[in-house]
Amino acid sequence: MTAMNLPGELNPSVRLLMGPGPSNIHWRVYRALATPVIGHLDPEFIVMMDEISNMLRAVFQTENRLTIPMSGTGSSGMETCFVNVVEPGDKVVIGVNGVFGERMADVASRCGAEVVRIDEQWGRVIDPGRICDALGKHSDARLFAVVHAETSTGIMQPLEEVGSFLRERDTLFLVDTVTSLGGCELKVDDWGIDLCYSGTQKCLSVPPGLSPVTLSDKALEVLRNRGTEVQSWYLDLNMIARYWGEERVYHHTAPVSMLYALREALRIVLEEGLEQRFERHRMAGEYLQTGFGELGWALFAEEGRRLPMLTSVVLPRGLEDGATRRRLLDEYGIEVGGGLGETKGKIWRVGLMGETARKENADTLLSALREIWG
Ligand SMILES: Cc1ncc(COP(=O)(O)O)c(C=O)c1O
Repeated sequence: MTAMNLPGELNPSVRLLMGPGPSNIHWRVYRALATPVIGHLDPEFIVMMDEISNMLRAVFQTENRLTIPMSGTGSSGMETCFVNVVEPGDKVVIGVNGVFGERMADVASRCGAEVVRIDEQWGRVIDPGRICDALGKHSDARLFAVVHAETSTGIMQPLEEVGSFLRERDTLFLVDTVTSLGGCELKVDDWGIDLCYSGTQKCLSVPPGLSPVTLSDKALEVLRNRGTEVQSWYLDLNMIARYWGEERVYHHTAPVSMLYALREALRIVLEEGLEQRFERHRMAGEYLQTGFGELGWALFAEEGRRLPMLTSVVLPRGLEDGATRRRLLDEYGIEVGGGLGETKGKIWRVGLMGETARKENADTLLSALREIWG
């Protein structure tokens, strides 16, 4: 047998993570990840599961019983929300103004839905009045889905008007909060949201790998009354709810260490306080956006609708996208994100999420750019 040439011990560089996620991780979350693993049905672990659900309810601002982290990244939460309430032939209305709205339309059509799109130019919000008009016309729609914080463009979609429009109707309201949860106001119950999913690697500052989801009673009613089986075995909430609920029936082996990490991160979020955390994101984002203005870089997203946790900036003429991002990484240890889809090569996406959302990090990037770009 030939001896295998083993790679050296793992030793990744220290990075300031200012891309669209993951964000930097608090040392307490790393410590939680290094805590000894116990069984996913251990009575001590079951107590932790309840603690996680309770803290997720506080962060989502909901009383929803079914509020749990799915095993998988944000896209698993997206699929969970669609596959559980959409049956082949259902009409689904989707707001599309960026990559993640497109992804939702793709997921819905793979569920066999008839997809009705409400398209808007990237970087602009979809007018809520326009959405309500479309939903009035498509009153037979199973659900309306939209992205709260479009990470591909940096805009924040207003949700309240659509939520109150749908409250007394049969159509469910599904919202992607992968980038917004823990970084800005999000009131699942007050805003009439029925299905909501997020990710751990953005404003919660947990490594990627879990997707918190929450479903209202109205959404659970639709799930209960399905005429067909949920297409995905792994994401079927009927079965997963029996593991997270009273019965504790094994479905799949829970990712124990990731759940430790989420538990610790939620403790950090709630110790800080939601309002204080949102304010920290708001101040850091505003500071960075003002800084880009002083450098003479234009912002991509519509004014007044910009996300605090993700700033999209138009690259100045002559600046080389890939080479400059590589220089930031190699010489300054800073990661920023490039454009996605139609904005590739035209914009950067700069994150100030969770632990990273601090003015001093904005300063570090701005002074590096001053050195590189003058
Ligand atoms: C708004 C939004 N939705 C969905 C996703 C997909 O999440 P993931 O890449 O964790 O699967 C992302 C990831 O960046 C996102 O920003």
